[in-house]
Amino acid sequence: MARLAIALDPSTEDRLLADVVEHGHTIVGRLVGWRDVLESLDVLAPEVVLVGAGRDTLSAELLAGCDERGIRIVALSAGDAERAHAAQLGLHEVLDRTATWTEVEPLVRGAVPVPSRVGEISPRAPRSASMVAVWGPAGAPGRTTVAVNVAAEIAGAGHTVALVDADPYGGTIAPLLGLLDEAPGFASACRLAGGGALDRAELQRIAQRYSAPRASFDVFTGLVGPSRWPELSAERVTATLEAIRAWAEYVVIDTGFGLERDEELTSDQFAPRRNAATFAALSAADRVIAVGLADPVGLSRLLRGYGDLVDLVEPERIDVVANRVRTSALGIDAHAQVRQTLRRFAGITDVVMLPHDGRAADAAILTARTLRDSAPRSPLRAALRTYALERLLPVPEPVRRSRFRPAPMRRSPDRAAS
Ligand SMILES: Nc1ncnc2c1ncn2[C@@H]1O[C@H](COP(=O)(O)OP(=O)(O)OP(=O)(O)O)[C@@H](O)[C@H]1O
Ligand SMILES: [Mg+2]
Repeated sequence: MARLAIALDPSTEDRLLADVVEHGHTIVGRLVGWRDVLESLDVLAPEVVLVGAGRDTLSAELLAGCDERGIRIVALSAGDAERAHAAQLGLHEVLDRTATWTEVEPLVRGAVPVPSRVGEISPRAPRSASMVAVWGPAGAPGRTTVAVNVAAEIAGAGHTVALVDADPYGGTIAPLLGLLDEAPGFASACRLAGGGALDRAELQRIAQRYSAPRASFDVFTGLVGPSRWPELSAERVTATLEAIRAWAEYVVIDTGFGLERDEELTSDQFAPRRNAATFAALSAADRVIAVGLADPVGLSRLLRGYGDLVDLVEPERIDVVANRVRTSALGIDAHAQVRQTLRRFAGITDVVMLPHDGRAADAAILTARTLRDSAPRSPLRAALRTYALERLLPVPEPVRRSRFRPAPMRRSPDRAAS
């Protein structure tokens, strides 16, 4: 349960306190303004800060201070002006001040702010996917960017995550996250799986840890050079992914772009196949994210590839993502253009849009960190976070309240001093 620091108006605080305690949280500080909260972050070490969304208790400085320390922040707003203030700062975890603790609790645990929007966004998507493969056509549509950041957001929601670089055309996750790419990675795990020697201890040894406050995850880095693709045979990849699935709650796989089967016609039956790892990942995954670039060339590549993809994966398992959505490449209503094109040519009616956000993408590359860590308030991170939490994680169970309600806690004497 969470360590909470609180800066709320007295009546909201009084209303919520009993429930906070009842849900097993510890209140490490009850403070007055955002400066008090900011100054006490290091001393009190809260995991979550719950504040009013007004200017007295919520500021850019406080958000930055919480981001630096990996502290989650949730705000309660007293009206439209406060909600607008929070939105302007880029804070999405905002509820109405009259919210019950049952509504606040999922946000304290890292869930998405408005669960009721889930149905609106994705009426048909299954609720949870423990193995997710990210595919996309040639032309660098953003497969690795999506894979890395979806993994980070799922980890940030409190799950154990393994990120696998299974791109047979050469891995880029290691350099993207500042990890060693000469160390044993996914190919080593595949070799051990081929010899029946891949156990938990070996997985633990091979995985490299991407460390971040409350959002660390394990990474199986990719092929050092594209010429080593024969190491990723279908059987080995399948066996390795199954072993990793049993080891982590969520597995996110970065795959290659190729879906051609021509090689099967020209190769003899026992020849290794370049795209075997991609096929194996697609067939093992509960969900496949198909990423395409949101411009005329990228969309036509996506449409061509999508035709091959649905021969391998049922459409219900596919989420189509249009990446780098921008008016400069598509005209004024870029979203409508993307929707129209995909509906018209492939009958795709459900598209996840990711904005073009060069500043955030570059900050991530420059610092070798995830967007969550390098550009937490960027539009690209916000869109990826919403997608990951709303579409890939199960909807949080409503919290059951016991009938027993302890007497409200007395206001602590230290409040008067603070
Ligand atoms: N939404 C975005 N806005 C701006 N830049 C982006 C966005 N998404 C990805 N990029 C940038 O596009 C480039 C390609 O992205 P990425 O490496 O994720 O693509 P990929 O599909 O994995 O490519 P590859 O074929 O090399 O594996 C990177 O420089 C990345 O930072
Ligand atoms: Mg890539």
